[in-house]
Amino acid sequence: MSLQPVRGMRDLLGEELDRQKHIVKTAEEIATLYNYESIETPIVEYTSVFKRTLGETSDIVGKEMYTFSDRNNESMTLRPEGTASVIRAIISEKLTQTLPQKRIYSGPMFRYERPQKGRYRQFYQLGVEYLGQDSPFADVECIALADHILKTLGIVDYKINLNTLGDMESRQSYKGALIKYFSKYENDLSEDSQSRLHRNPLRILDSKDENDQKISANTPKFEAYLSSESKAFFETVLNGLNILKIDFELNPHLVRGLDYYCHTAFEFKTTSLGAQDALGGGGRYDGLMQQMGGPSIPGVGWAVGLDRLALLLPEFQTKPSLRIAVIPIGDELELEAIRLTQELRLKGFTSEIFLKGNLGKRFRQADKALCNIAVVFGSDELAQKKVKVRKLQSVEIETNKETFVDSSQLISHLSSLI
Ligand code: HAM
Repeated sequence: MSLQPVRGMRDLLGEELDRQKHIVKTAEEIATLYNYESIETPIVEYTSVFKRTLGETSDIVGKEMYTFSDRNNESMTLRPEGTASVIRAIISEKLTQTLPQKRIYSGPMFRYERPQKGRYRQFYQLGVEYLGQDSPFADVECIALADHILKTLGIVDYKINLNTLGDMESRQSYKGALIKYFSKYENDLSEDSQSRLHRNPLRILDSKDENDQKISANTPKFEAYLSSESKAFFETVLNGLNILKIDFELNPHLVRGLDYYCHTAFEFKTTSLGAQDALGGGGRYDGLMQQMGGPSIPGVGWAVGLDRLALLLPEFQTKPSLRIAVIPIGDELELEAIRLTQELRLKGFTSEIFLKGNLGKRFRQADKALCNIAVVFGSDELAQKKVKVRKLQSVEIETNKETFVDSSQLISHLSSLI
């Protein structure tokens, strides 16, 4: 039997992992400029945290959650997204007393989807949640933060799609109009859309089914059902984005796959990843905290898919750094080599020790381990209190092929090579 990871789940290593880490580091640095603090929530929550909040008719709750009973017969779920967990944590930790809360998080999420490129069952998100601010400028700031991060990462192929889902009353009356409209075509709708017709007809608007899309083309427009407050809210968001010179496209069919949104909804769409065109998405969720049993505190946020961003990340330049191979010639020098390697590491140099095989073999091992400088010494060098510093394969380090350096000057010599 060959040991494989679970379908739709994979080991992250090498460049893919480096890319994800680089994205998280960059995003966290930028989020600090906007006063965000980190939060980490457990990967497992009581199922109720997600079940009602994400929407009974959503794909996530309907068919994608990893839900199981624990040994105590409690229903548990591996988190499919971060927002509900963060709100749960804000309530549990009584952070509702200290508003606003601006939180950034990242980590694995789980959805039982059909795996393909850019879509996994264990995938990684980075997200932010901004709680306790009902001004539309919070929405603007949130979108600006995501745009700032994507641009800094050098990701260029994306468009911000924007829509308003209005307030509850506007949405209710629009839903009524949609049910009336779609009911005329009920038998022609896809199975998914038929099941959503009465419970969440808005989702029919973003159906991927071609026939559903044809039927949706002539639906009544939401604008006619938006309250004047909702319209004014959205106008302010648009004005804010314009003043910050953030490009966006209005997309009246953008409704998002989770039920908790109101007012602003947005997605970062790319044309570079085929069917998985959403790099990230988010919006405002003013009713969510109260729905989860907390006080009525408004919120807005987004999450991006790290797996998808990593696929689009342009080559990123890491600073050329020294990787030092320590190579003693002669068994009796091994202890000195271990001492020197540790000294180098304590001084902040990435170092590896090569003890086995003839000299040629050890140089080859050092090359393979991507070392670019070797510190070599035998008993003669040691007697003279010197070491040989030899350039390995690296192209980035400007130095002679081989130099003798006083042992006491080694650290400063190596520092001068960076
Ligand atoms: P979401 O749109 O469900 O929103 O997910 C956000 C992003 O996660 C997607 O745009 C996509 O890039 C990535 N993603 C989702 N599913 C997968 C998958 N199976 N494989 C790979 N990547 C995936 C949320 O999760 C909301 N919590 C966002 C939010 C935060 N809204 C307010 N605050």
